[in-house]
Amino acid sequence: MARPMLIAGNWKMNGTRAEAADFLSKLRGLKPDARPGRQLLICPPATLIGEMAKPLAASGVLVGGQNCHPGVNGAFTGDISAGMLRDLGSSHVILGHSERRAMHGETDQLVHVKAMAARRHGLIPIICVGETLAQREDGQAEAVVREQVRTSVPDGIEGDALVVAYEPVWAIGTGRAATLDDIATMHHIIREALAGKSDGAACGLIIYGGSVKPNNAAEILSLDLVGGALIGGASLDAGDFMAIADAT
Ligand code: 13P
Repeated sequence: MARPMLIAGNWKMNGTRAEAADFLSKLRGLKPDARPGRQLLICPPATLIGEMAKPLAASGVLVGGQNCHPGVNGAFTGDISAGMLRDLGSSHVILGHSERRAMHGETDQLVHVKAMAARRHGLIPIICVGETLAQREDGQAEAVVREQVRTSVPDGIEGDALVVAYEPVWAIGTGRAATLDDIATMHHIIREALAGKSDGAACGLIIYGGSVKPNNAAEILSLDLVGGALIGGASLDAGDFMAIADAT
């Protein structure tokens, strides 16, 4: 059976308990469990994972984290471990998002060890890669993404426990998604880079993120190698999120 598409929402640093309750009640009305071939996932701020896990599960929707520490526990003020995310009911964790790479200095090596920690605790890492505008204009986009995949993705990781998200930095939050050609080309390059790692990683799921909206989701999701979407802004609205999940 073909692997379902992953339609994942990254709420970033957005959402109070009241807003989460409002989102959940709207989502329930849209019957998110009736989507064969699509797996839905919401990654809210860590503060909301615990209380959203059960109601989301009742609607057939998974919950995940946006980051984790590579360690198990200890003196790491402000950090959250993969085991803690798992304990709250998470199935996935987003790692190496460009906002964390840019604002928190996360390197490919750090993303790599975080991904291994995620796997040790049964979480599926969603490893984000993507070039900046300057790198693209400099003709470096493909080399940058190849290197990010080579270094961030642990060797030997099982393909069915791996998601790689192609998120060109210049497309995030700008309303300007990458062109279909660019998305297709980069998914092909990521597939090749994964194939160079190990038998398992070669079949990891590859998804696209960067200004995915209800009006462009169908064409993006129809591309051959695109296995789903990582949605920022539009995932905060249950109607928009479900419109993307329904896009064909
Ligand atoms: P937007 O959908 O708001 O562009 O954000 C994309 C993103 O960063 C998802 O991780």
